[in-house]
Amino acid sequence: MSDPVTRRDFLETTGMAFAGATVLGAGMSGCASAGGDRAAAAAVAANRRLIGSNDTINVALIGCGGMGRFNLTFFLDDGKCNAVAVCDLDEERLDLACEVVEQRGGQRPARYKNYREVLDRQDVDAVIIATPDHWHAIPVLEAIAAGKDVYCEKPASHNIREGRLMIDAACKYKAVVQVGTQQRSAQHMQDARDFIRSGQLGEISMTETYTYGNDAPDGMGHAPDEPAPAGIDYDMWLGPAPARPFNPRRFHHNWRWYFDYAAGMVGDWNVHLQDITMWTLRTPHAKAVSTSGGKFVLTDDRDTPDTMLATYEFDSGPYTPNGYVHIYTMRKASGPPWHAGGYGMVFYGSKGKLHLDRNGWEVIGDAIDWRDPDAGRLVPNAKHGGERHHERHVLNFLECMRTRQTPIASIEDHHNIVTACHLANVSLRAGRKVFWDHQKELCFKDEELRIPDPKANQYLARDYRTGYELPKV
Ligand SMILES: NC(=O)c1ccc[n+]([C@@H]2O[C@H](COP(=O)([O-])OP(=O)(O)OC[C@H]3O[C@@H](n4cnc5c(N)ncnc54)[C@H](O)[C@@H]3O)[C@@H](O)[C@H]2O)c1
Repeated sequence: MSDPVTRRDFLETTGMAFAGATVLGAGMSGCASAGGDRAAAAAVAANRRLIGSNDTINVALIGCGGMGRFNLTFFLDDGKCNAVAVCDLDEERLDLACEVVEQRGGQRPARYKNYREVLDRQDVDAVIIATPDHWHAIPVLEAIAAGKDVYCEKPASHNIREGRLMIDAACKYKAVVQVGTQQRSAQHMQDARDFIRSGQLGEISMTETYTYGNDAPDGMGHAPDEPAPAGIDYDMWLGPAPARPFNPRRFHHNWRWYFDYAAGMVGDWNVHLQDITMWTLRTPHAKAVSTSGGKFVLTDDRDTPDTMLATYEFDSGPYTPNGYVHIYTMRKASGPPWHAGGYGMVFYGSKGKLHLDRNGWEVIGDAIDWRDPDAGRLVPNAKHGGERHHERHVLNFLECMRTRQTPIASIEDHHNIVTACHLANVSLRAGRKVFWDHQKELCFKDEELRIPDPKANQYLARDYRTGYELPKV
């Protein structure tokens, strides 16, 4: 690692104090709403270590489950990162994370059970946050305020209010925040995006995302409450969520099926898919969402739906001048139909349809004139294989840490997409179609946005358990 030249040193010696400040934060609408001590935030940003192209970056992992450890491998395999600290409230998970580092020739990292001790370390440049969804916002906000850059797993927020605060913080402290929607970094996803934007699919009137699987009849099953296992700080695991006895069906991995901790399938998986459809069409905000669904078949303990059909309406965008409709279909209790796999995305255009997943994309042209035998194929079954998208996503984050550019899956972009996902649940739980005012970030009962919808708006934020409140930004 080179001498710890801070950003302030660099800016002062090069006279770039103001020029540098325009890279991150410029154009982010969130900054306008950030309050608090701006001078203190500017000082934190200015004191951030400047990382040169050959400097080693010190990272810490917070949340050492399957995804956290998987992410860590990409940071270490690049050869330009040290894992100086790992943090989890489960001793066994800490052991596993240390093994990941040591297997790659790294020194055994320092182990922590409380992430705040990680954030106190001056030598940590970036944190990877791969805790359950209800435990993203608080450490992200505190990490940003401590001058760290952040790679946060998706969905970044447990609710819409949290996402807005993360944008404000990133903007105010000029932090690089990359969200783990790594599909954006796949070359073939970018090729498909460019194909659609080029107009070759014609005018897009509809997009579709779907996730299908069959966990019937009893899904993850049942388990009685029991004492929390030794070696685990269960109260910390609950964090901002309501206090309740330990139950293994709500703990590691399974938390994603409970609204106390997550958003169910629409936040877990559809966020990856709708990320690509909304990003491709550059339509950051849905104007209305209507969701049907429920827990119709599965008998396990989850409280998120096993079946969902969310219909979105979008206003015009650069590639959809008259607006379009998006549908998300989710089944956890009936598998893929004869014509589809377990997940995917479809763009429906006036010249044909493009199907896209992590393995590739293909286009089937529409027969404009059904009497023409050659008219049915636009790009006949053009398959393009997937590649190292996860690694590229991490490398993009590390590069942005060096250049202070906005990463490919910025928190602001992500907030808009995940808001659409959260709104599917808001509509389902409110039991009606909701109209979304993206500037006020509130739901209304009418298209003219005159009558607020309190039943829907109660789901835009959560109550935080005492001692685990959101930090002020
Ligand atoms: N990008 C992707 O493709 C992808 C894939 C899977 C999961 N994820 C996301 O990654 C995150 C983690 O998912 P997972 O499947 O690894 O979950 P997991 O439950 O297996 O692991 C989460 C870990 O975080 C720890 N933890 C909880 N609260 C903590 C706290 N306050 N401080 C420190 N550690 C804490 C838990 O003990 C656990 O070890 C989730 O947000 C999930 O949505 C992303």
